[in-house]
Amino acid sequence: MKNRRFNFLSRLTDDSLLWRLLSESLPEHKGKYGAAIFAMVLVAGTTALSAWIMGEIVDAMTDSDNTSRVYMVAAGVFLIFAAKGFASFAQTVLMARAGNRIVAEKQTLLFKRLLRQGIGFFNTTESSDLLLRVTQSAQMARNVIDVVVTGFIRDSLTLFGLVAVMFYQQPILSLISLVVGPAAVLGVRMILTKVRAIMAQEMAGLAEIIKVVQETSTGARVIKTLALEDLMQNRMAKAVREVEKRSNKMVRLESATSPLMDSLTGAAIASIVILSSTSIAGQAAGSAGQLMSFVTAFLMAYEPAKRLSRMRVTIEGGMIGVRMMYSLLDMPLTLIEAPDAKELATGPGEVTLENVSFGYVDGPSVIKNLSLTFEAGKTTALVGPSGGGKSTVLNLLLRLYDPVEGVVRIDGSDIRQATFASLRKKIAFVGQDTFLFSNTVIGNLRVARPDATDAEIIEAARVAHAHDFIESLPKGYQTQIGENGAFLSGGQRQRLSITRAVLRRAPILLLDEATSALDSQSEAYIRDALERVSLGVTTVVIAHRFATIMNADKICYLEAGQVTEQGSLKELLAMNGAFKKLYDAQFREES
Ligand SMILES: Nc1ncnc2c1ncn2[C@@H]1O[C@H](COP(=O)(O)OP(=O)(O)O)[C@@H](O)[C@H]1O
Ligand SMILES: [Mg+2]
Repeated sequence: MKNRRFNFLSRLTDDSLLWRLLSESLPEHKGKYGAAIFAMVLVAGTTALSAWIMGEIVDAMTDSDNTSRVYMVAAGVFLIFAAKGFASFAQTVLMARAGNRIVAEKQTLLFKRLLRQGIGFFNTTESSDLLLRVTQSAQMARNVIDVVVTGFIRDSLTLFGLVAVMFYQQPILSLISLVVGPAAVLGVRMILTKVRAIMAQEMAGLAEIIKVVQETSTGARVIKTLALEDLMQNRMAKAVREVEKRSNKMVRLESATSPLMDSLTGAAIASIVILSSTSIAGQAAGSAGQLMSFVTAFLMAYEPAKRLSRMRVTIEGGMIGVRMMYSLLDMPLTLIEAPDAKELATGPGEVTLENVSFGYVDGPSVIKNLSLTFEAGKTTALVGPSGGGKSTVLNLLLRLYDPVEGVVRIDGSDIRQATFASLRKKIAFVGQDTFLFSNTVIGNLRVARPDATDAEIIEAARVAHAHDFIESLPKGYQTQIGENGAFLSGGQRQRLSITRAVLRRAPILLLDEATSALDSQSEAYIRDALERVSLGVTTVVIAHRFATIMNADKICYLEAGQVTEQGSLKELLAMNGAFKKLYDAQFREES
C-alpha cells in the first residue's frame, strides 16, 4: 500500500527548498519579521555594549575618587541591561507570533490540499503518514525559519558587535583568539551529513508508532479475535525502541559541537592568560578595564558563535519537515475540477457511458470499451461475478475516478465539465460500508442535507426503516455515535446510510450492495422502502440477491469489464446464457 512517489526519504535539493520556504514566508509577514529583526538589532547592540561597559566598571572602581564617573557608569550599566531585557522580550514575542501564524497558515494549506486530492491518493497514502505531515511538518518548517532568522540576524550581529569590542580593547589578543572559528566550522561539517539520515529515519519511526496505535484502534476486533496483542506489542516495542535509539544518536550528534567548541574556547582563554602575563602581550595589554572588557566580550561571544556553528545542523534537522510539507503540497492532484466547470443542467437524470475504458493506477484495465445507458427514472441492475467491475462503474459515475478513455455523461453533458458540487448533488450513493463521524445520530444524518429540518430527517429515517432502532438507542437521535459507530450493527449502519440517501433527494440513486448487511426480513422492508425512493429516480442497483433485482426495468450482466448480456429479466432468462446460470445457481441455493 506504500506509495513510492511519496515517502519520507524522497530527497530534493535542500537549499532550493530552504529558499522556497523563506521566500514564501518572510515577505508575506514582513511587518512581523521586520519588527522582530529591529528588536534583534537592539539585542545585539546592547549585548556588545554590556561587554564594553565591563571595562568602564573596572576602571571606574579603580578610579573611585571620581564619583561622577562612578554614577555615570552605574546608570549606563542599568540602562544597557534594561534595554537588553526589553529587546529580548520583544524579539521572542514577535518571532513567536510570526512563527505561530506561519504554522497556522501552512497547516490550513496542507489540509486544503489534502481535501482536494482524489480518492486514489487516499488509497495509496497511509493515514499515519498524513497525520504526521499535517501536524508536525508545519511546526518543523517554522523552527527552520526561526533558526535562520535568529541565526543570521541576532547571533551574527551579536557576534560581530562583541568581536568589535574585543578588537577595540585588545587587537592583538583578538587576532590570536580568532583561530577558534575556522576550527569549529570544520568539525560541524562532518556532523551534518549524519544528521540528515537520522532525522529521516526518526520521522519514519514516528509514523510507524502512529500507525500501530491507529491499527490497534480501528482493528481492535481483529486483534482481539485473532489474539494479536503480543504481535502488536512487539511491533510497538520495536518502533518505540528505534525512535529512542535515533533520538539519542541525534542528541549526541547535535551536542557534539559543545565539547568541540568548549575545548577550543578553553584553549584560547588559556593562551590569552599565558600571553597576557608574558612581556609581548603585557605591552599590548592596556588598562585592567580593557583586559576585563575583552575577556567578557570573548566569553559572551561563545554562545552566539556556538549557535551559529551549529546552525546548519539544526536547519538540517528541521529540513526533513520542510521536505515532508512540500512533497504533500506539491503532490499533483489527480482529479480536478475543470477550470471552466459549469453547473450540471437540471434534467431527467439519464446517465450514459460512451466507449469507456478504465484501469486503476498501475493495474490492469478493469472496464473495457463499455457503452451503456441508464435510462432516466428507471431502475437498472448490474449483476455479475465479483471483480467484474460493477463498483468501478459507480465510481466512474460519481467521478471518483476519470475514465482513461471515453466519456460519462449525465443528461448529455460530460461530467468532467461539471462542478463537483453540482455533480455530487445529483447523486445519492449507498454502499456496503457506511462511514460515521463521531457525532450524534442526527448529526450524522444531517450531513446528507445540512438544511434539513429535524422532522424531515425523522421522516427520512422512517422511510429507511431506521427510525425504530434509533428511537431505541439510549438518547434516541441525540445518541453520540462513537468513533465510526462501533456499537451499531452492520444492518443499522446501512439503514443510516439509506436514510442519508433519502435525505439527498437526488435524481440519481446508486446502490452498491446496499442491503448486503441486512437479514432477509429487514431487507424485504428496505427493498420496499428503496423502491418507493427510487420511484422516478434513475437508479443503478448492484445486488446479489435476486429478489432485489427482479423488479429492475433492465438488467446488465457485467463480466470482466464488459456487458455481455442486457435486457429485462424475462429476456435474459430466455437468452439462456451466463445470467441464467447465475440465476439458477442462486435459485437452488435459496430454495
Ligand atoms: N481502488 C482500487 N485500486 C486498484 N484496483 C481496484 C480498486 N478497486 C477495485 N479494483 C480492482 O478492479 C476490479 C473490479 O473491481 P470492482 O469494480 O470492485 O468489482 P465488483 O464490484 O464487480 O466486484 C477488481 O479486479 C479489483 O481488484
Ligand atoms: Mg463491488
